[in-house]
Amino acid sequence: MIERTLGIIKPDATARNLTGAIIQRIEDEGFRVVGMRQMLLSQNQAEGFYAEHRERPFFNDLVSFMTSGPVVLLAMEREDAITHWRSTMGATNPSDAPSGSIRNQYGESIERNSVHGSDSPTSATREVGYFFSCFDLV
Ligand code: RTP
Ligand code: MG
Repeated sequence: MIERTLGIIKPDATARNLTGAIIQRIEDEGFRVVGMRQMLLSQNQAEGFYAEHRERPFFNDLVSFMTSGPVVLLAMEREDAITHWRSTMGATNPSDAPSGSIRNQYGESIERNSVHGSDSPTSATREVGYFFSCFDLV
């Protein structure tokens, strides 16, 4: 089934000029980028985005990290986009991510793991809608 998912190139990756390499990988995986924007998230925007993690011990660190530099937001479309992007990223902790995955290749730590991906159809709908209006998606 053709789905949409939200990808984010995180601040550790934009800081190392990996934006182009990661977008190339996304296109090589057969995704069509339907929305794209670079921005600096505010604290409120990052807290709202990661609201499901509010009670987790890493929440404050995660919000400071995600607001520490530019992120690139990507709405992406493909057959089975959600699971395909999760497997292209690899596990949260880069040391558990398989060879060839983006987090294995570029991730620096469990927090600074270079990319985000929606984890279910419900979160994909919420997350794409969090950053993009229907008029932004082409
Ligand atoms: P994401 O939401 O960014 O795609 O990552 P994920 O599903 O693989 O992992 P999740 O459990 O949703 O965690 C969200 C992000 O929080 C940071 N994190 N830090 N210090 C820690 O133990 C820790 N655990 C998670 C990572 O940036 C993770 O991607
Ligand atoms: Mg997650």
